[in-house]
Amino acid sequence: MKKLIVANWKLNPQTYRRAEKLAGAISRAAKSFRSVETVLCPPFVWLECLADEFAGKAVFGGQDVFWENQGPYTGEVSPTMLKAVGAQWVIIGHSERRRHLGETDEMIHRKVKAARAAGLKVILCVGETLAARRRGHTHAVLRSQMRKALAGVKRFDMKNSRLVIAYEPVWAIGTGMPETPQNANAVAAFVRNVLGTHIRVLYGGSVNAGNIREYLMMPAISGALVGGASLRPAEFIKMLAIADSV
Ligand code: PGA
Repeated sequence: MKKLIVANWKLNPQTYRRAEKLAGAISRAAKSFRSVETVLCPPFVWLECLADEFAGKAVFGGQDVFWENQGPYTGEVSPTMLKAVGAQWVIIGHSERRRHLGETDEMIHRKVKAARAAGLKVILCVGETLAARRRGHTHAVLRSQMRKALAGVKRFDMKNSRLVIAYEPVWAIGTGMPETPQNANAVAAFVRNVLGTHIRVLYGGSVNAGNIREYLMMPAISGALVGGASLRPAEFIKMLAIADSV
């Protein structure tokens, strides 16, 4: 199966022109990488124009989504809106949202269900804090996050790649201190043990051009969720080339 590399641009870039340049550079290069599936997740405000401009040349996803499709929910974006503007994927449950915006497992569960109902493919983020890690609670935290978020989600979705898990230890995100490939692989194997061996598990947390190969060589890891390095086109394209070759 192709490696799945997801670019999470977070609150970047600051202008549409720069978003367009970034998407242009990546999509031009990605054409020649046949064994890698690339998903670009820009901020909502750039998403519609990018999906339109790069239709057929790049695949897009949202960084979040709300659980209702309409109504009095100021500031939210619905699954059907995301789908309508050309997103195929959506990231749900990123630890930055859990931490800064108080997203709970219950909210994440509602988002997963609504996204699925709208036909979006879901990247569900799970991961433990440093404190939980030090206490040896990684498996317990992940088991609980997955059980709550995925209550009622059929195995069918996992088998058909409509749902992937991104394992992102909170302490490894944006810190330049990634989890070791061996440990990340052990956790990915745990996830597959819980959810079934068909599920794709990505690793995320300080992945860059210098270390991505080691993660992608691991048997339980199917790809990467990339933050900071996905904003540097030359580096990100190098990462796609490595993913294409492993
Ligand atoms: P990072 O972010 O690659 O900058 O560590 C990963 C993520 O938050 O998805």
